[in-house]
Amino acid sequence: MADTRMTMIVFLMSLIVFGPTIAYAQTMKPHHKNAGLECSDCHITKPFEEVLMDQCQSCHDIPEKKEDYHGAPDKHDSPHYGPELECDNCHAEHEESDNFCNSCHEFDFKVP
Ligand code: HEC
Ligand code: HEC
Ligand code: HEC
Ligand code: HEC
Repeated sequence: MADTRMTMIVFLMSLIVFGPTIAYAQTMKPHHKNAGLECSDCHITKPFEEVLMDQCQSCHDIPEKKEDYHGAPDKHDSPHYGPELECDNCHAEHEESDNFCNSCHEFDFKVP
């Protein structure tokens, strides 16, 4: 009986201790996980907030245009936004990435 109660108490305490960690459990994209990135490489503030492009660009130059990419225009330097479009409009980290341009166009490119 005492054992059961002890188990219960330990369980409840672990919820208090680990609960917040579980709430923040997020999967990373394979290209970042395999490269050994940690949460703090992108999230320089706590609690975790949206990651701004400066942080991405601390590791990545804006990619060169791939001329042969299905004839699609340069999404990293478009006539509308130039190179100023926040990365996470397209590259999500914790969910499917999104082809932002296709809210208006029908370009055939897949965002990693
Ligand atoms: C490569 C950069 C990167 C890494 C590494 C990363 N994140 Fe994120 N995180 C983002 C971006 C970008 C967003 C904005 C939403 C999105 O695009 O998925 C975000 C959003 C979040 C949010 C939601 C914040 C909000 O208010 O929208 C949480 C919570 C979070 N990340 C937790 C984590 C945890 C925990 C880790 C480590 C396991 C982690 N992130 C690693 C880039 C990153
Ligand atoms: C701490 C350094 C670091 C930060 C910060 C970082 N990355 Fe990365 N990223 C890497 C590394 C390392 C790789 C794997 C090697 C490579 O492909 O360059 C990678 C890979 C990628 C890839 C896949 C490349 C491919 O060839 O498929 C994309 C897309 C990407 N990062 C976008 C982002 C975006 C968007 C952000 C900001 C939300 C970000 N990265 C933040 C280091 C970083
Ligand atoms: C409008 C959508 C869009 C935005 C915004 C965007 N990207 Fe991309 N990105 C793509 C697509 C699509 C690819 C796939 C390769 C291609 O089509 O050239 C890609 C590929 C990449 C790659 C892989 C390297 C390569 O040459 O393929 C990296 C790294 C990357 N993006 C980083 C960034 C960073 C950093 C930002 C913010 C400064 C950003 N991207 C903003 C759509 C976007
Ligand atoms: C809110 C709607 C919207 C979004 C989002 C959008 N566009 Fe456009 N775009 C337009 C409209 C409207 C035109 C002008 C009519 C046309 O030529 O289709 C245009 C024209 C263009 C043109 C041809 C005009 C020129 O000056 O060469 C290109 C290339 C283009 N967009 C690329 C992009 C890219 C790349 C993205 C994503 C980064 C994007 N667009 C996002 C609405 C949009």
